[in-house]
Amino acid sequence: MGGFDTIIRGGTVATASDTFRADIGIRDGRVAALGLDLGEAAEVIDATGRLVLPGGIDSHVHFAQPSGPGIVMADGFETGTRSAAAGGNTTVLPFCVQKRGQTLREALKGYHAEAAGQCHVDVSFHLVVADPTEQVLGQELPALVADGYTSFKVFMTYEGMALTDLEMLRVMSVARETGALVMIHAENFDAIRFLVDKLEQEGKTSPYYHAISRPIPVEREATHRAISLAELIDVPILIVHVSNGEALDEIRRAQVRGLKVMGETCPQYLVLTEDDLKDLNMEGAKLVCSPPPRDEASQAECWRGIETGVFSVFSSDHCPFRYEDVQGKLNPNARTSFRWVPNGIPGVGARLPILFSEGVSKGRIDLNRFVALSATNHAKTYGLYPRKGTIAIGSDADIAIWDPERRLTLTHDLLQDGSDYTPYEGMEITGWPVLTMVRGRVVMRDGAVVGPKGYGTYLTRERSPYAAVRGAN
Ligand code: URP
Ligand code: ZN
Ligand code: ZN
Repeated sequence: MGGFDTIIRGGTVATASDTFRADIGIRDGRVAALGLDLGEAAEVIDATGRLVLPGGIDSHVHFAQPSGPGIVMADGFETGTRSAAAGGNTTVLPFCVQKRGQTLREALKGYHAEAAGQCHVDVSFHLVVADPTEQVLGQELPALVADGYTSFKVFMTYEGMALTDLEMLRVMSVARETGALVMIHAENFDAIRFLVDKLEQEGKTSPYYHAISRPIPVEREATHRAISLAELIDVPILIVHVSNGEALDEIRRAQVRGLKVMGETCPQYLVLTEDDLKDLNMEGAKLVCSPPPRDEASQAECWRGIETGVFSVFSSDHCPFRYEDVQGKLNPNARTSFRWVPNGIPGVGARLPILFSEGVSKGRIDLNRFVALSATNHAKTYGLYPRKGTIAIGSDADIAIWDPERRLTLTHDLLQDGSDYTPYEGMEITGWPVLTMVRGRVVMRDGAVVGPKGYGTYLTRERSPYAAVRGAN
């Protein structure tokens, strides 16, 4: 015993299953001991009165993503991972998006170049398959899964991104053969196109009508269809950013039938509503994301999904654009129609404080479910467990220390991202991360992200046994 680089002393440790008093001995970036009286170390961090939790894993973020002519995403990898560290996260999983006509390898080259030397926390990419050619399906995807890109997202909506059912089946079939996980953005593209055209013809063009153009049936139908297609192939899928009880019930029914269908929800579906966009005119653009926030009944249903375990992961879907910016939400076209408002809102820094405050502090979920939803289940789902997502001997010392009593009013400056607003401005929060440690090194202390940028490393992932084809584990 002894000879630790760092000891975290005096805190209450929580994992997805247990809460206990223990000090943590860290050596060479990994957890080396859990116990009391661990002796001395080069650095001792006093965690008395604090919670010591696995660092958050946000498995759904968008950084440095090309977003259409004249539009620039507010975060690259430096500011995006800075905000992640400020919000108690130690790993993020952004998307590498294939453009039509581009190979996945070409897309990856660009995203790796953007990320290199920039990250404050660890990073691993999901692939977005937007052009499933024979070459992509037959050669690139299988080779990339073998290289550690073990999850890919497909879209059922968005111009230039939406796959046909036939293409979805082909991608799912490759996932089944290779052991990868398919993430699905479930909204019915044609229904949205019809509604957008109709609203515009009626002169209903302000950002509020974005929400009206994508009502719940659009999401429910696509969720049902995605599950049915996955059932045909008998392949696990994960439905991302679920916003309401009808889509939730599709997932729950599939789970009850024994299908491996997982679900994700996000902060915007717990604390925002479509009415928040209503009287804001252009300021409603600050809340434009897809699926849109719904109503209070839907919020309650999303909490039901969290409390009952139908949703296994809670992610931010951080997709930031600046508001006061001609390259962002207020681009010239956006003033003519909601159609042109860039889709997405920032959230990587706010995700965990919102779940902690609204969930743990208000007694909706216990601390262990918080850890599962914020870290452990992400690691298990995406092939990073037990290296990431827990506090156990041999795991990376990826740790967030929380002050469960800290009360504050959420303001954008606390979040340190590259946007110029937070959709959650003014929220009263109880519980805040005061220190973030990645592989044994402190990257955030008392709100200061201490760098250096570039410490965050790229993670090659395994195929996840938790997301394996039925009968395979
Ligand atoms: O509005 C959103 N969610 N934008 C991000 C892209 C996506 O669909 O995840
Ligand atoms: Zn999506
Ligand atoms: Zn997204």
